[in-house]
Amino acid sequence: MILIAPSILSADFSKLGDELKAIEKAGAEWLHIDVMDGHFVPNITIGPIVVSKIRKISDIFFDVHLMIEHPEKYIEQFAKAGANLITVHAEACNELEPLIKKIKEYGCKAGVSVNPETPIDEIKDVIGMVDLVLVMSVHPGFGGQGFIKEVLPKIKQARDMINKTKKKIYLEVDGGINKENAKTVKQNGADVLVAGNFVFTSGNYKEAIQSLKDA
Ligand code: DX5
Ligand code: ZN
Repeated sequence: MILIAPSILSADFSKLGDELKAIEKAGAEWLHIDVMDGHFVPNITIGPIVVSKIRKISDIFFDVHLMIEHPEKYIEQFAKAGANLITVHAEACNELEPLIKKIKEYGCKAGVSVNPETPIDEIKDVIGMVDLVLVMSVHPGFGGQGFIKEVLPKIKQARDMINKTKKKIYLEVDGGINKENAKTVKQNGADVLVAGNFVFTSGNYKEAIQSLKDA
């Protein structure tokens, strides 16, 4: 079953609560929350305080994507703010294992992400510990970018790596997803699709989300 995780980055931040309720009503299973610190990526978005405020108005699954340096410093805050899953970047950590353990100690599911230029082998040592692998299909930092089709073989590689563990591990793909490329991304093994621009600029969230599910 494919899960759709609209990315908050493309939402109307002047009415974040309404946007969250709207995508939930429109059939989104997850909310993808892009956290950026202006160092790991050249953009700054939101922090734990915003997560805690929107947590109060919805029970939707909060899929928190940390595009920050020193993620180890913020796991507790995002967990206490209401994250259900926290994903860290392999490129932002010297040692992934203790970080994944820490995320789980705070009661969250743990994800690990790789940028388009990072080989999937970077995460092979922790694949048995995580609940999710996030393959970036854009260079992180901004919504509305074009899908980098060169990551398709890496999505397949990640799927094969996951299948070998015989564990339930989500394979999420993030960046430039739309109804044209969703089918190929799914065929290569993704079961969670992040979609920001495609959903939030669609004018009809329900139709946009359904078109990704049906692709
Ligand atoms: C980019 C973020 C993505 C992005 C997805 O750094 O991690 O989640 O917001 O947005 P679209 O679907 O517009 O590429
Ligand atoms: Zn993201």
